[in-house]
Amino acid sequence: MSDRVLVIDDELGVRRTLRRALEEEGFSVETAGSGRKGIRCAEEERPHVAVVDLKLGDTSGLEVLRDLKRLQPSMVTIMISAYGEVQDVVQAMKIGADDYVQKPYDLDEMVRCVRQTLRASRMREEYRSAGWRAPDAVGLDQILGRTEPIEAVRATIRKIVRSGAQTVLVQGDTGTGKELVARALHYESDRAAFPFVKLNCSAIPDSLFESELFGHERGTFTDAQETRKGLAEIADGGTLFLDEIGDCGFANQAKLLTFIEERRFRRLGGREDLAVDVRIVAATNKDLDAASESGEFRKDLLHRLKVIGIMLPSLREREGDIAYLAARFVEEFGERADKAEMSLSDEAIECLESYGWPGNVRELRNAMERIVLLEDCQLILPDHLSQKIRGSSTLSRVRGLMSRTGLALAEVEREHIFRVLEETDGNRTRASEILGITRQTLINKLKMYGHPSGTVSEKDSNVAIDEA
Ligand SMILES: Nc1ncnc2c1ncn2[C@@H]1O[C@H](COP(=O)(O)OP(=O)(O)OP(=O)(O)O)[C@@H](O)[C@H]1O
Ligand SMILES: [Mg+2]
Repeated sequence: MSDRVLVIDDELGVRRTLRRALEEEGFSVETAGSGRKGIRCAEEERPHVAVVDLKLGDTSGLEVLRDLKRLQPSMVTIMISAYGEVQDVVQAMKIGADDYVQKPYDLDEMVRCVRQTLRASRMREEYRSAGWRAPDAVGLDQILGRTEPIEAVRATIRKIVRSGAQTVLVQGDTGTGKELVARALHYESDRAAFPFVKLNCSAIPDSLFESELFGHERGTFTDAQETRKGLAEIADGGTLFLDEIGDCGFANQAKLLTFIEERRFRRLGGREDLAVDVRIVAATNKDLDAASESGEFRKDLLHRLKVIGIMLPSLREREGDIAYLAARFVEEFGERADKAEMSLSDEAIECLESYGWPGNVRELRNAMERIVLLEDCQLILPDHLSQKIRGSSTLSRVRGLMSRTGLALAEVEREHIFRVLEETDGNRTRASEILGITRQTLINKLKMYGHPSGTVSEKDSNVAIDEA
């Protein structure tokens, strides 16, 4: 039986070419031109892999992804993204997309991505069923990194644990380790003997928030046949982790504030106040200051939460850790997969260091897991990295140069143009070819940047080139 792939894209041409390319590879392929049709098709066909365009005309690819994952969590999902959709891609990875391919892609790349992602996911399942799982308990030593920003985070965690602070806000981009920090705060403290309880505010409808958090008495609503404890009560003595607190509805924010201030609450339908002793750790990747300015997030709640805060650095802000983290992840997965001899080549490390890592540590960790699962080599080379990591290196090198040196884009361009001109001994025709711009554009830019040859024709003045 061949593996089934479902392609959901609103462009007929894309559906056709992908179908042909994937069928040639031995996949059996279904296509759908809209999100709705795609979901229906997935219900009937139960594909192993879905390839979904992020922009689908009628619906957002993210919604479709969510529905597919709900329908069949094990389905391998690959997103097609356009340039500049980084935020959506990051969101997709968080929802559970396995990988993404950026437009314009070539068909080989797409086919390779489908094949490899499917294989990696199967191997991962195999290892997981053999007990390969991330542990729930997290210690400080599992927050990896040797650069100053992450050292500072560990120091703050130590301080908070010692001080016994009751409420902590953890902020940072997606994949920077907010949950890891929340768990470390719990397991490093003397609360560790009590429960760590997580409530994901974005995953629960506003109307159920209160009963989930505070519980309810029997008979409060029709299907409340029994009294149920809320998560606040269950966490008594331990830590209550309020994840994605930026997504908590406005009305519920007020209830949260009262609870945070008093550490008391009432079950829905209950008559007495209950008191609990919990440390509350809240996390978000939203900019809460901006959200409170625009009126989405209560100012009083933000001020209450912000008293003790941890701001996690993005991976870009601690570039010095990329090689170290990558090596540690390769080592970790290598041990589990019986490939302990695997290591990264200098060239591969160079690619890793010049990639942007919008998904931060999560993305790096996933990338390393995938290589260890898929490759049977000792030395990991650039070729083993996915195209987007390899391919972005020049672009992000410029970005890196800019952020390190504080140069503006124009200055980087100026530097580059002058250098190329120097290398061609001032031959502007050659230089424009190398730069991939017309000679006239080059001349304009030289003028703009005040290069001496921008005004007078020099060495190539005898070369006549007609430019449209
Ligand atoms: N400093 C670190 N050392 C080792 N692993 C890390 C580190 N930071 C993050 N990770 C790993 O990266 C992955 C994502 O971390 P985590 O779930 O804590 O991120 P997050 O900030 O909660 O992201 P999101 O906002 O998307 O929920 C996990 O597998 C975690 O173990
Ligand atoms: Mg998280």
